[in-house]
Formats: sequence, C-alpha cells, structure tokens
Amino acid sequence: LSDKDLQDRNILITAGPTREPLDPVRFLSNYSSGKMGYALARAASFRGARVTLISGPGNLKPPVGVNFIRVKTARDMFGEVKSLADDQDIFILAAAVSDYRPSHFSRHKIKKKDTDMKLVLERNPDIAAYLGKNKTSKQLLIGFAAESDSIIENAREKMIKKNLDMIIANDITGENTGFESDYNKGYLIRRGNVEKLPEMDKYKLANLILDQINK
Ligand code: PMT
Repeated sequence: LSDKDLQDRNILITAGPTREPLDPVRFLSNYSSGKMGYALARAASFRGARVTLISGPGNLKPPVGVNFIRVKTARDMFGEVKSLADDQDIFILAAAVSDYRPSHFSRHKIKKKDTDMKLVLERNPDIAAYLGKNKTSKQLLIGFAAESDSIIENAREKMIKKNLDMIIANDITGENTGFESDYNKGYLIRRGNVEKLPEMDKYKLANLILDQINK
C-alpha cells in the first residue's frame, strides 16, 4: 500500500444519521454517531483523495482538508449528493439515512392530548438507489448495511437491489460494534465473494475498505 494511492480521486462519503422533524422540538432519527463515515473521510484524505464528507447531525469534528457539508434531513442529503454526483469517482455511503419522515411537519409544537396519537410516515428518497441507477461505468458505489439477522443475505439483497459494487455488512448484535462504537465487524461483500471482517477499529476498517478500490 503506497502512501498516496488515492491521489486525485474524488470520493464522496455520507455519514451520520438524518433527522426528520415532526415539529419545532421533535424529530425521528437513529443512533448513528458518524464515526464510521468520518473515519473513512480521514483515511481517504490521508491517502491523497479529494474528499467530500456529507454528514447528518452529530458532535464529531470534521477531518481537516475535507470538503465538509452539514445536512439535517434525508432530503437535504439527497440534494447535496445529487448536485456533486457527476464529479465523483467513488461513493461510500456510511450514513444511516431515515427511510421515512413524518408526512406532516407541524409548525407549532404538538400538544399533548388525552388520547393516543398516530404518526403517519412517508418514504424518503433512497440516495444509494438513485446513485445505483445513475452511476457511470467508471464510478464505484460502496454501501453499508447494518443488520441484526441473516446478515449476509440481507446485505447482498441490498447490494443487488441498489446496484452497489460492494457492501459492508455490519453485525450490530455485538456488544461493542456498529452504531456509536469505535469498533465494527461484519462482512465485506462483492458480487462473487464474501470476506469475513473480524472486530477492528473503524479507522482500520476504513483503510481496509479503501484498499479494495484499487484492486
Ligand atoms: O455512524 P456510526 O455510529 O459510526 O455507525 C456506523 C453505521 C452502523 C451507521 C454504518 O456503519 C452503517 O452500517 N450504515 C448504514 C446503515 C444502514 O442500515 O443502512 P440501510 O440498510 O438503511 O441502507 C443501505 C445503504 O443504503 C447504506 O449505504 C445507506 O447509507 C444507503 N441509504 C439508505 C437509505 C436511504 N434513503 N438512502 C441511502 O443512501
């Protein structure tokens, strides 16, 4: 592995959760911290790539030298990705994007009632599927899947459905891996092969993923 093996490659990375507002004080989201995506951005930048990091809300400091774009909702993230997509060589989608958003945003704080309440959700755009449909033969599209059961099968299905070139299936049943943790484990899945990834820190995993690009 040479030091700057990703010199002059344009890499777009998504990271973190999205927030889908319900009213001025409430939102739907998930436990993604952004650690996986930020580790990828730091590692890719260190290896010479021109990195754009599009991140949902979180507390992490963006790595120096990367083009950092902060977003809130899945629709914001989709808009930013779309506007930069043509210039990219590689996409790595580590964000945990909300599949749904509340179909109605209340401009006023929703009041407590004596009865139960139903929340109606609508589908968000699928950024990975959009890129899978529109990528050129030169663009490489890498996704993640956080799975708790039938890990390989579920991840492979996502890879094929969204037309990804590769997917990293995270096993989120581990005590110390997946969302929020500094560690991850799972499988690296391509069309014709599956490689088991032992537990390792996210920066190491980031480099292992980046090693695949020039293979
Ligand atoms: O942020 P951390 O705390 O470090 O945690 C890292 C992580 C567990 C969030 C990350 O490693 C991970 O697995 N991210 C993907 C989470 C997931 O379950 O994705 P998914 O199965 O909903 O989607 C599959 C792929 O499509 C992902 O690459 C996702 O970014 C992408 N996607 C999904 C939905 C959507 N609307 N747009 C997308 O681009």
